[in-house]
Amino acid sequence: MILEAKQISKSFQNGTKELTVLRKLSLSVDKGEIVTIMGPSGSGKSTLLNILGTLDSANSGTVSICGKNVAYLDDVSLAELRNRHIGFVFQFHHLLPEFTALENVLIPAELMGGGHDAKSRAKELFEYVSLTERMDHFPSQLSGGERLRVAVLRALINTPDIILTDEPTGNLDTGNAERLLELFTNICRDFQQAMIITTHDQHVSSIGTRACRLEDGILHVIT
Ligand SMILES: Nc1ncnc2c1ncn2[C@@H]1O[C@H](COP(=O)(O)OP(=O)(O)OP(=O)(O)O)[C@@H](O)[C@H]1O
Ligand SMILES: [Mg+2]
Repeated sequence: MILEAKQISKSFQNGTKELTVLRKLSLSVDKGEIVTIMGPSGSGKSTLLNILGTLDSANSGTVSICGKNVAYLDDVSLAELRNRHIGFVFQFHHLLPEFTALENVLIPAELMGGGHDAKSRAKELFEYVSLTERMDHFPSQLSGGERLRVAVLRALINTPDIILTDEPTGNLDTGNAERLLELFTNICRDFQQAMIITTHDQHVSSIGTRACRLEDGILHVIT
């Protein structure tokens, strides 16, 4: 099992009011699985994804990545675990504007001390998404869809065990959204890559090998 979350609960304190977002939620994800999590705005999708990605912590329950309970890790080990095992793709891609597409993709590899191998892998990845021609462009010179595909490559460069992506198509037109979903499906098939995608879009939800709905803090499996 690549990711295992057990009995996750999360509440936020707003003044005197307590807002419970997740209620004893459990989820496991295996190799090659695409889990989609659909829910309306405010249902807790980002909160859940941040907890699964160890960017936030739950009030109770456990998260294990590749068999390691993340609660036992200090900040340095946690950062290393994230960089090694998890790839993140956000709707606002967070590419660094002063670096080229290729350089952006190489950043996570450099943090791991990867040299020549990383560069040739990056070039293969650019070829895989038909963006070889755009490798030396800066983010400002790319379309929204191209930027997101570059962000996907950046998430893939360290061969993560799981990719977490929060409403990835939210900002894209239909054509680019379709291309991104196709890329996700291909990546999961070709690299046996596990992935969790949050969305409020029924169509995005349908690409999941397992589609879930987040409602009242509980995850319901639809298919
Ligand atoms: N740091 C915080 N402090 C207080 N309340 C928060 C905090 N973060 C999120 N919330 C609340 O928790 C609920 C879930 O938020 P979350 O961002 O996870 O929803 P979401 O499903 O991702 O929504 P969207 O589709 O709009 O992105 C919301 O009601 C939100 O206001
Ligand atoms: Mg959100």
